Amino acid sequence: MTIDHDSPSTTDATLSPRLRRAIEGTPYAQYVYGYPHKTAYRALEPPRALDALWTQEFESGALRRDALFLYVHVPFCEMRCGFCNLFTTVRPEGSLEERYLTALATQARVVRAALGDVSFARLAIGGGTPTWLDPPQLEALFAVIERTMGARPQQVPVSVETSPETATDERLAVLQAHGVDRVSIGVQSFFEEDTKAMGRPQKRATVEAALERIRARSFATLNVDLIYGAATQTADRWLESLSLALRYAPEELYLYPLYVRPLTGLAKGARHWDDHRLSLYRIGRDFLCSNGYQQSSMRMFRRADAPAPAAPPYACQSDGMVGLGCGARSYTSALHYSEEWAVGATSVREILEAYVRRDEREFATARYGVALSPDEQLRRRAILSLLSDEGLASREASLALPELSSLRAAALVEQRPDGTLVLSERGLERADAVGPALFSDAMTDRMEAFSLR
Ligand SMILES: C[S@@+](CC[C@H](N)C(=O)[O-])C[C@H]1O[C@@H](n2cnc3c(N)ncnc32)[C@H](O)[C@@H]1O
Ligand code: SF4
Repeated sequence: MTIDHDSPSTTDATLSPRLRRAIEGTPYAQYVYGYPHKTAYRALEPPRALDALWTQEFESGALRRDALFLYVHVPFCEMRCGFCNLFTTVRPEGSLEERYLTALATQARVVRAALGDVSFARLAIGGGTPTWLDPPQLEALFAVIERTMGARPQQVPVSVETSPETATDERLAVLQAHGVDRVSIGVQSFFEEDTKAMGRPQKRATVEAALERIRARSFATLNVDLIYGAATQTADRWLESLSLALRYAPEELYLYPLYVRPLTGLAKGARHWDDHRLSLYRIGRDFLCSNGYQQSSMRMFRRADAPAPAAPPYACQSDGMVGLGCGARSYTSALHYSEEWAVGATSVREILEAYVRRDEREFATARYGVALSPDEQLRRRAILSLLSDEGLASREASLALPELSSLRAAALVEQRPDGTLVLSERGLERADAVGPALFSDAMTDRMEAFSLR
């Protein structure tokens, strides 16, 4: 059965193909959690010295020294889920974790010296699965964050990602002792048939026990990730999964449409399930909104009676982000950089092996990334504001995103009484089509030319 996508067709012949696709095509083009996407990154010739790069940002007033965001990436997991293209490796061997932590400490010393006199207003530890590290390794990670980087996790918002299998009480105790206030766990579904179909075999009892353990430790925010759109997932089971999640009264839920991405385990059977995903999206949204949650973006829902969050959730979108570890991105206003990115197991291992062998001199430069012109910087802020519930001031919009008038005409964007532009209900469910339609032509060409390994 084909459901009504409610997407008006348009007769406007002047529309670019990308805008036309946003209005009429698949709602599931690309998850825009940042701009530009990492497929726009290339080798930087010549490499850029980190001290000069950050000093220039602070001295020009583009970034504040006292409001940086520290992100630490842990690229290890107990399994490679069929849907996942994040930078991670499974069950590492040869004490790779220890070598990784040693390299991370070296990188931290170099980066800290390059930054000069700064302080961190937020911290996030993501992956992969940070809690793949055992308790002593997690302690070593916090030593790097606190002693080498000088971050104060007890005093600023700290978010950590975990998985059902690795969220043991001993590890959660380490997180709690270091001031973590937000724990985000990937559940995906409470039904084994559905997680199996997503390429993530997992026992429901493991998930429930992990959620109990997290709740028992009173972290201020529990976030639960769920995925909709697996071929096996019926509307009833999706609703049941949502109800089971609400038993733990999570302060936040992220509902992700299932994407089948190149080089991931599910990619071979790639098919588009737009109708299935759209109907499950609407079911999930309506269920959460009638059960005390408020929608903040296409994916994010927050419990309306929960105390205000210590920080907006980590969304890869802040300026002034210092990334540590292989797979972490760093954002200055004019340059985004990282280590290389890959999805295939062999390529990930190669990049990781090169990372753990780097010396101080190599860590002192950015060698892979993308420069953002002033126009691209404006565009980036405008896209990310529009896709979140922050919205976009209309003056900013006309400067940065001339395309918006077409999206307004197609009722994907609307104006709040205070004049701010936001996604309409229809725009929210098509956010993954609206976002890519707003990328610049130059950046789109660059991303499309990327060859994934
Ligand atoms: C770093 S993981 C979360 C923590 C932990 N590694 C785990 O999986 O339990 C990031 C989240 O992104 C979501 N995700 C990743 N790739 C996805 C895809 N292709 N389709 C839908 N959701 C995806 C999943 O919900 C996953 O929980
Ligand atoms: S979804 Fe989580 S556990 Fe699965 S491969 Fe990705 S990061 Fe690892």
